[in-house]
Amino acid sequence: MKFTPNEYMQALYHRAKDIGDDLYDSRKYEFIRLDPEVYREALVTYMRRRAWSEWYFGTVAQARQIMLLPEDQVDLKLRLARQIRDEVRHYDVFAQQLKRFDAEPRIAEFVLPEILVRMQKVQMEAETAPELAAANQFAGEIVLSSMTDLETSIFKVLFDKELMDAVIDIEKDEPPHIANGRDMVLLFCDTLDHRRRLAASQEKYLTAMMQLHFTEIIKLGCRRVAPLPVFE
Ligand SMILES: [Fe+2]
Ligand SMILES: [Fe+2]
Repeated sequence: MKFTPNEYMQALYHRAKDIGDDLYDSRKYEFIRLDPEVYREALVTYMRRRAWSEWYFGTVAQARQIMLLPEDQVDLKLRLARQIRDEVRHYDVFAQQLKRFDAEPRIAEFVLPEILVRMQKVQMEAETAPELAAANQFAGEIVLSSMTDLETSIFKVLFDKELMDAVIDIEKDEPPHIANGRDMVLLFCDTLDHRRRLAASQEKYLTAMMQLHFTEIIKLGCRRVAPLPVFE
């Protein structure tokens, strides 16, 4: 095999990170002044989707990983339990922000867009903890890290200071979650077949996620002036 397991893991990391850095770069957009009510509606929809994702992609998926991992992976299972604790807090952060806008925070009341159902399906179809990681901690969570570590993050333009500070606060928890993904991916980098399954799982998830996030960004008041990122 051309790459060592570590190099293959790094390649998967950069594939996701490059998408985040491109998709969230304010220099790739032109901004449009929206009617305040139209903006509020788009922002509330975005935050309700984020609240749902923190909950579902941050607790249900990790609980499944804990069950799927072999019994001797005790340390990783404990780290996943700590991740669940963090993600419930992230849900609360978005719920608080929704209350600030007098909007509904309960996930049971959230109607999932079709593309989010597709993202959920990719995770549910993952048969092993590492494939689930490739469609979760080692996909979405890497992309989301670009929201705050990019100097030119588009969210600094689209969000008010309170919401941006809330996102910065959430993102401080993310490096250990991405490390959980990294360590699960490394458990499954031993054969070509496993590597292909990891890459397929990550690509299916990221393709749908990119479409969802792009649509959300546009609705918050801008238009893309560069092509969307493509997979290598
Ligand atoms: Fe989170
Ligand atoms: Fe996370």
